[in-house]
Amino acid sequence: MGQAGVKRGNVYYSEEIIEEVRTKNDIVDVVGASVRLQKKGSSYFGLCPFHNEKSPSFSVSGQKQMYYCFGCGAGGNVITFVMNYENYTFQEALKYLADRAGVTLPEEDASAQNRQKQSKRALLLQINKEAARYFCHQLRSPRGKPGYEYLSERKLSDETIKHFGLGFADKTPGSLTAYLREKGYSDEMLVEAGLCAYDENRGFHDKFWNRVMFPIMDINHRVIGFGGRVMGDGKPKYLNSPETPIFDKSRNLYGLNYARISRAGNLILCEGYMDVIAMHQAGFTQAVASLGTAFTSGQASLIRRYTEQVLLAYDSDGAGVNAALRAIGILKEAGLSGRVINLEPYKDPDEFIKNLGQEAFQERIDKAEDGFLFEIRILRRDFHVEDPAQKTKFEMEAARRLSQMENEIERENYLAAVAREYFIDPEMLRRMVRSLAAAGGQVKPVERPRSTTGKKASAEDNRKKTQRMLLTWLSDEPQIYSQIQQYIQPEDFTDELYRQVAKLLFEELAQGRCDPAGIISRFENEEEQRQVASIFHTRLQGIDNQQQKEKAFKDILYAVKQNSCEYYASQQGTDINALKQVVAARRALEELSKVHILFT
Ligand code: CTP
Ligand code: MN
Repeated sequence: MGQAGVKRGNVYYSEEIIEEVRTKNDIVDVVGASVRLQKKGSSYFGLCPFHNEKSPSFSVSGQKQMYYCFGCGAGGNVITFVMNYENYTFQEALKYLADRAGVTLPEEDASAQNRQKQSKRALLLQINKEAARYFCHQLRSPRGKPGYEYLSERKLSDETIKHFGLGFADKTPGSLTAYLREKGYSDEMLVEAGLCAYDENRGFHDKFWNRVMFPIMDINHRVIGFGGRVMGDGKPKYLNSPETPIFDKSRNLYGLNYARISRAGNLILCEGYMDVIAMHQAGFTQAVASLGTAFTSGQASLIRRYTEQVLLAYDSDGAGVNAALRAIGILKEAGLSGRVINLEPYKDPDEFIKNLGQEAFQERIDKAEDGFLFEIRILRRDFHVEDPAQKTKFEMEAARRLSQMENEIERENYLAAVAREYFIDPEMLRRMVRSLAAAGGQVKPVERPRSTTGKKASAEDNRKKTQRMLLTWLSDEPQIYSQIQQYIQPEDFTDELYRQVAKLLFEELAQGRCDPAGIISRFENEEEQRQVASIFHTRLQGIDNQQQKEKAFKDILYAVKQNSCEYYASQQGTDINALKQVVAARRALEELSKVHILFT
């Protein structure tokens, strides 16, 4: 938990400045700029930007200055919202909000001394930046001639080379390592950054050697890793940085730093760095690629922040088709629609554009095939439909897939398209789909693993829920605190995090203040921030009138206190203060049974 201030990244900001920035940015305005919100009671509701949903369970409270999703549990204050929505670090989010509200932040201190103190993340970013500069410089030096010639031969213009920061790792062994050591970075950090490796024969040595270098940037143009390509047919064709604290291959996309500001209204997803670069050079600045690994759901949710329309430009060979099928499934799960660009007779976008040019590529974009129809077309290849038995199997499988579509209009449209394309009688196909859908309703399909929400809540879950309800209630109606102050202490909350939150909240309430969003900022770790948000957003149900309300509140308070009493009673062997707690709790329970709590 934050002490007197919060050290995030390489800058230390005082708690005052963080609070100033936070309070000058109204959460309803900030969230409302990206999420359509509707007022309901004292809160606003909208579709959650952090998971795919059809009915709004994402709430924003102007009073609490917090957001919380009752569907996926995402929650926090205005700073955490910007961090999560924009994929910003704490510092970036603070900077963004400070600019928005016209607050001037203290300057970053880049002195050598301060560098020592920087967190590992910041240090790794700096090392990568230095390395990228070094590689760029090498490409333009006499030693970089082979790299420069290779890139020119691949038809990249000087402008493109510069735009993507392409570089060269030369043949001199250890030249980057020597350069970075000179800059003052330790061998251990260079290894951790993935630029340097160690073995007994060679000692510390460069990982990239005699390759053209592609810096991989995050959405804020910061270099987080590299891909290096051999100039010719050597193996491996590409060598990539390993995953590091700043390089998560499943949550970044090559080219997204530029693609996110392209105004195309869609994103083109492809497999290779060279494909992205070739497309951008031809004006298709919405192209991105995964990072030498298969497309992931983390990347799909990253994409969903920018668009719902994804065009796939995967290689036209068998491996590319399989990868495209998998990507379509992942996109669908994230609520995105995928269409497939046909690159035949060429292998990949780079070759297509080199041979047929930009206009022909645009035509292929316009003619991209719907993801579902692509799946059916690929499926069809596995059957010899001249054989009636195989034809039946194909049609049954197509019908089964259609039957899984929930939306009836959508299903009907696809049904018509499939019937037309594969010469199936639409009436018959419709009957087949209906009977499969009906069967699917009765016979449960595959047993899904039970989610935690479906499970019967454990006693522990119930205890925590009661504690959360009490804290939510106090943050909703802070004026009750004065009536119950004498009966409740932070120690009554039996979970460490809850205890910390109660302590901070009670301190504020005692001074007549209540600022749950500020309490969130005191926690550094994202998971803790989510939990704190949930502590302030636990729903109270079935309360219609004043009398019920007073009873419900007292029941909750009583339950929390009783749990505390039992908890300390069980701790008596190990905790010397336990007995004192038990005695105090028993007394409070007795008094509590006699008092009446008034809501005004
Ligand atoms: N890749 C990799 N390691 C390899 C081969 C490929 O990480 N040994 C990744 C790279 O990100 C590469 C992508 O897979 O960009 C696609 O590979 P491929 O189609 O073989 O390369 P191209 O992008 O077409 O590159 P080029 O045109 O230079 O051959
Ligand atoms: Mn290629």
